[in-house]
Amino acid sequence: MRIEKPRGTRDFLPDEMWGRDLIEKRISSTIENYGYRKILIPTFERSELFMLKSGKEIQQHMYIFRDKGGRELCLRPEATASVCRMFAEELRAEQKPVKVYYSCPMFRYEEPQKGRYREFWQIGIELIGPKGPESDAEVIDIAAMSLKSIGLKFKLEVGHLGILRGLMQDLGINREVQNGVISAIDRGQRDRAEKLVKDRIFFDLVDMKGDKRVIGRVTKLIRGHTHSLKALEEFKEILSYLDLMEVDYSINLGIARGLEYYTGMVFEIRVDGLGAQNQICGGGRYDNLIGLFSGLDVPAVGFAFGFDRIIDAVREQDIRVPERRIDLVVAPVSNEVREEAIKIASRFRGRCSVEVDLMNRKLGKILEYASRINAKYTIIVGPRELKKGLVVLRDMNSGSQKEIGMDEIREIL
Ligand code: HAM
Repeated sequence: MRIEKPRGTRDFLPDEMWGRDLIEKRISSTIENYGYRKILIPTFERSELFMLKSGKEIQQHMYIFRDKGGRELCLRPEATASVCRMFAEELRAEQKPVKVYYSCPMFRYEEPQKGRYREFWQIGIELIGPKGPESDAEVIDIAAMSLKSIGLKFKLEVGHLGILRGLMQDLGINREVQNGVISAIDRGQRDRAEKLVKDRIFFDLVDMKGDKRVIGRVTKLIRGHTHSLKALEEFKEILSYLDLMEVDYSINLGIARGLEYYTGMVFEIRVDGLGAQNQICGGGRYDNLIGLFSGLDVPAVGFAFGFDRIIDAVREQDIRVPERRIDLVVAPVSNEVREEAIKIASRFRGRCSVEVDLMNRKLGKILEYASRINAKYTIIVGPRELKKGLVVLRDMNSGSQKEIGMDEIREIL
């Protein structure tokens, strides 16, 4: 019987995992340099957690099931709601800011295609507590610096939902309808949005894109609309901090984001060459979500990378990832020195990566194996050399070899 993996899932083979791990480590270490600590959330949650504010887009794509006790659960489709729940349950007494990050798979029942999977990985951060514009800017800076740490070229766009929502509020549009408009814009369904908002000025605002000069035009456009103007003031401050941090960005007030919990700054990062699924990062401020789970008024801001898309982009942009290398292969030339070879391997382990022949191969075959796994050196253990207290060290790059004592090998390695 042949059983295949479920649609939208993947197997990751060792070579691929090596590259993924290296890139993940670079991103995590950048994030940790800003003071973030790693957390892990459950793979499944009560499904109502995502019903409150995550938005229809997410809810339609959830894997929902019942456990044996009849509880409705789901595989996590994203982490922000879980982190807010965790904060309310476990971290509310912690000193703020609470800075956490995660790296784990998410599950969404979407139509699989290039860059879109049903099981995909996110690396994300959540900054809980601060409200000031410098915290929005710092979160964006972390995303940009993480991508720079792996040498990726990308385009970062910043918007502000407070400006759009503020204008709708000023135009007398209620919160429920606002959500519908934002979701329509996020999906590119302009017609649907135009049925909900009649004022042209709103769509002129959505179309505002470009560098900082856009701000002047926006100011004129929303003159007299107090809620929207207030959000614009905050947006301007965020941009000033981004300039201070030397983050490259462009403005796009049409960024709506598919999730319903965003309240202020929103941003997205795209890369060229990935086709339709070219968004590698999305995030923003969500000041009311923690309140929903805890009753506490705690603002927060964060983002998540689509890690699989980052890996695709690394490949697309031809960024070289250092190859995996084993430092040492220990090759006994015959069975009589096998025990000695195992002893030598044990002696070097802990200091470097060591493989010893386990297949009972002839020397020639062991050397072939050593070059296939990209070993740096092979120690050839033979009875004649052993009698002199020596072994043969072969440099697998140059092919040169010499008789040598153990202490000397230690120095070379
Ligand atoms: P999101 O935009 O839904 O935001 O997802 C973040 C990233 O995950 C996307 O930009 C994309 O790169 C990747 N992604 C989403 N769906 C898939 C998929 N089916 N296959 C592969 N990659 C995918 C969130 O999830 C928010 N929780 C982000 C956030 C954190 N906002 C504040 N804090």
